[in-house]
This record gives sequence, C-alpha cells and structure tokens, in this order.
Amino acid sequence: MRAIEARDFSIDALSLGQRPVPAARRGEILVRIKAASLNYRDLAILVQKYLPTLPLPYVPASDCCGEVVAVGEEVTRFKVGDRVMPLYTQGWYDGKPTLETRTRRTLGAPLAGVLAEYVAVPAEDAVTVPANLSDAEAATLPIAALTAWTTLQEGGIKPGDSVLVQGTGGVALFALQFAKLAGARVIILSSSDEKLQRAKQLGADVGINYRSTPKWEDAVRAATEGRGVDIVVETAGASMAQSLACTAFGGFVGVVGFVAGYTAEIPLRAIIGPLMRVQGIAVGSRARFEAMNRAIERNGMKPVIDSHFQLADAAAAFTHLRDGRHFGKIVIDI
Ligand SMILES: NC(=O)c1ccc[n+]([C@@H]2O[C@H](COP(=O)([O-])OP(=O)(O)OC[C@H]3O[C@@H](n4cnc5c(N)ncnc54)[C@H](OP(=O)(O)O)[C@@H]3O)[C@@H](O)[C@H]2O)c1
Repeated sequence: MRAIEARDFSIDALSLGQRPVPAARRGEILVRIKAASLNYRDLAILVQKYLPTLPLPYVPASDCCGEVVAVGEEVTRFKVGDRVMPLYTQGWYDGKPTLETRTRRTLGAPLAGVLAEYVAVPAEDAVTVPANLSDAEAATLPIAALTAWTTLQEGGIKPGDSVLVQGTGGVALFALQFAKLAGARVIILSSSDEKLQRAKQLGADVGINYRSTPKWEDAVRAATEGRGVDIVVETAGASMAQSLACTAFGGFVGVVGFVAGYTAEIPLRAIIGPLMRVQGIAVGSRARFEAMNRAIERNGMKPVIDSHFQLADAAAAFTHLRDGRHFGKIVIDI
C-alpha cells in the first residue's frame, strides 16, 4: 500500500513509500482509509518537539475515516462496508484512561500512523461515522473534536455559560461550535481580524485580536460585565495566567495545549481564592466520542475544513499547518 513515511524529523524528510497491507487479526478490522486530517501533535512529532526518541521511519498522523474492508475472527461490532473512525487512544472506552493506554496506545505514534491506504485496529477501538458527514469531515473528529467536547463536558457546560476559546485551529473551532450547541456565549481570540469575522459567522459572540490587544484578559472581563468566563479551552498554554485573570469565580480552565509555549508562570492566588478548577485534558474516551457523534448528527453540525491535500502532497499539508494560515482542519484525501 502507499504510505507517507518520515525518514527523519523534518517536513523535508517525508516521502511516499510502499508498505505491506496489514492483516485483520482476531478481533480486528481492516480499514481502507478514505481521508485523514492533521493535528498540531503530528507537526510537533515531525519536528522532534514531542516524542523525540520515536524510532524512524514512521508513518505520521492519527485521525482518519475509512471503510471496513475485512474483519478478523470474532468481530461482531462492525461488518464489511461500515464507515468508521479509529480511536486515537486505543483501549480507552469510558471513565478515565490508564497511564498505559494514555501514553502507549495512541495512533500515529507510538502506534501505526494513518497517512496510508490501510490501517488495522481492534474492532472495539473504532466508532461509527455520523451519517451527516462525508469521509473528509469525519476524518477531522477523533482528536480535535473530541478534545473540544471533553473539555466542555469536564467544565460542566450549561446554557448561559461564557466560554473562551483561543485561536481558530482545529480544537478551537470545534469548541466554538459545541459551545454554541450547548447554548453558551463564546469569546474567541485570534491573531487575524479576518479569521475573527469568519468565527463570528460560525456563531462566535465576541472576537478579540490577541496581537493588537495583548492584554486580552481585560477585554474578556469587559465582554462579560466584569464577571469572567465560566470555561476556558486553553490551547495556547503559555497564556494561562491571562486566562485565569479573566475566568469567573469557581470557573474551569481545561489545559489542552501549548501553541504559545510549554510553560506559564501562574500566581497561585489566581487559583486558590477564586476556587478555580484547572484540569489537564487528554482527548477523550470512546463513550464520549459516541455521545459527541450523536450530538453532531442530531444537530446537523459540520466540521470546518480549511483545505484538502492529496496523499503525495503531505509535506505541503504539514507546511500549511506550520505556517498557521489555516482556519479549521487540514484534510488529506487518500
Ligand atoms: N490535550 C489534548 O488532548 C490535545 C488534543 C488536541 C490538541 N492539543 C493541543 O492543543 C493545541 C491546539 O491544537 P490544534 O490541533 O487545534 O492546533 P492548530 O489547528 O494548529 O491551531 C492552532 C491555532 O492556535 C492559534 N494560536 C497560535 N498562537 C497563539 C497564541 N499565542 N495565543 C492564542 N492562540 C494562538 C492560531 O490561531 P489564529 O491563527 O487564529 O491566531 C492557530 O490557528 C496544540 O498545542 C495541541 O498540541 C491537545
């Protein structure tokens, strides 16, 4: 089968190679991949900022949608022809994951990557595609959408809440869409006024440019009549002190990512006195994935796709992600 291989830790080291088609062993399904999507994690691994000791060569990317083309013995969960999305965290079905599943059973490093024509996964480790989504749209869900969904669920989202989302990448736009579905008010940050306008068309109530308004926490406070937001989907990371400064008493900061840097200096009084809940987020369980898919299907929600690339042009897709001009998800059609 055709597969993209990273022979070194650099975008320039990606090339189209040939690998054997995996077999569906007992309990497994073989999925013919129709589309994959990129996450920030895929770029971080490729440029050796994350999992720096990953053995080379490897096949990048975690998120895909495809069709079941073979089933191993004892598989009853799916049949040939079903459209599925493999779980990013294999083996995490409900509740909290174990340390083992969380760190060692993730697709796209250390497990097989999906920039390839086929992948074999245990049948228990895939879910059905929402009927209203195309293959490309479904390929955007397993990490970005589920992370946004989990963060809002952990934050206990309810109608009338205010939610702060940072940037206009994959996680942020899904958080915007799910927060609006839940009846919340959304404040979104971006480096681009043009992207803020597009976010408003998706339902964002307030847009703040974090470049031209570096003290955006004051603008967020002002936009919430001084109260602060109930939930922050913290994808920037380094700005956590600013996020805490504009979170309401008893609010929730879901610590998701680090696009602005891995470290933040936080005054502890910003957490203690206002009874903040600060929690790390790690994508989500299968049960949450299925609940999210029901919400997407019943509400006719559509993921925001920025652009499509062909498999052979994977390097161009990674370059596009690195350059940060995207609005939503970058898809690779296979
Ligand atoms: N913990 C988890 O389970 C989990 C799951 C998924 C992702 N993540 C992490 O979450 C982060 C976002 O992932 P993603 O896939 O959504 O990334 P992405 O699609 O590449 O989006 C990143 C966006 O962040 C915005 N941004 C850049 N610098 C910023 C800053 N200083 N302040 C605020 N926003 C800034 C940019 O938006 P504008 O262009 O609009 O400025 C950019 O589009 C990454 O760190 C990723 O590793 C974690």
